[in-house]
Amino acid sequence: MPADLDSLRNNPLEIGWRLHPEFWHQGLASEAAERMAAFAFTNLDAKELLAVRHPANADSARVMDRLGMRFRATEFWCGTNVATHAISRESWLEAHSGRNES
Ligand SMILES: CC(C)(COP(=O)(O)OP(=O)(O)OC[C@H]1O[C@@H](n2cnc3c(N)ncnc32)[C@H](O)[C@@H]1OP(=O)(O)O)[C@@H](O)C(=O)NCCC(=O)NCCS
Repeated sequence: MPADLDSLRNNPLEIGWRLHPEFWHQGLASEAAERMAAFAFTNLDAKELLAVRHPANADSARVMDRLGMRFRATEFWCGTNVATHAISRESWLEAHSGRNES
């Protein structure tokens, strides 16, 4: 863990989601992802957000797509291959510039 917040801000922040199956397929994870991104980009001044999924997790990939994240790579993390997706602050702001966030 970096000692100061500025060095944390210079690294991509990771966002993620896990819902009880009773709450799947209602749009809740995507709504939560939107809120996380809004908080990270407007309150924390994050430069980039990262999300990580099992390569076979198509539901999670769709949450990332809906947020406007782009597939980055298949990377070896913590002993396993994962798919990484990212969105820059510029892309997020561009996609949200015409929206009336409340
Ligand atoms: C990943 C996970 C959170 C995704 O859940 P999800 O229900 O697919 O995602 P959302 O809550 O955003 O719901 C979106 C779906 O609801 C549908 N939906 C139904 N009613 C809706 C509504 N009123 N508004 C919005 N979407 C609605 C959407 O069409 C979408 O379906 P689609 O993906 O087939 O197009 C869930 O599968 C999970 O918790 N898995 C176990 C843990 C896990 O894998 N975590 C991710 C680690 S990377």
